[in-house]
Amino acid sequence: MGSYEGASACYLIDANKWHDELEMFCVDTWEGGAEHQSNGVNMRSVEERFVSLACSQAAKGASVTKLKGTSDLALSKLLNEGHASSFDFIYVVGIQALQSGRGYRF
Ligand SMILES: C[S@@+](CC[C@H](N)C(=O)[O-])C[C@H]1O[C@@H](n2cnc3c(N)ncnc32)[C@H](O)[C@@H]1O
Repeated sequence: MGSYEGASACYLIDANKWHDELEMFCVDTWEGGAEHQSNGVNMRSVEERFVSLACSQAAKGASVTKLKGTSDLALSKLLNEGHASSFDFIYVVGIQALQSGRGYRF
């Protein structure tokens, strides 16, 4: 949750010792938070880097699904698709979003 350019997704895929077949769902609006907007971060480039970094990890035996949208809508979609009991681990990066009062909704 809050996948940005995919560094955390890549780390988790590289560190995976838990499953032979790792399935990962990466959620982000790719709109950035206030900290990205005030620093002029080009979120389109960030999203492109996510696609080339994280999605290319499929070669390492990981399935990566990119879900573009807010956390609450992504969660609804996942529940709707039958993933209520699918997750062993959920990683949320949202310090800046929380500080700006625009936290993740679940
Ligand atoms: C600090 S970045 C995360 C860094 C990332 N985990 C990494 O490894 O590089 C925070 C991200 O959260 C996303 N974000 C903020 N609020 C969100 C929300 N409500 N739903 C989904 N993504 C959100 C922003 O677009 C931004 O890309």
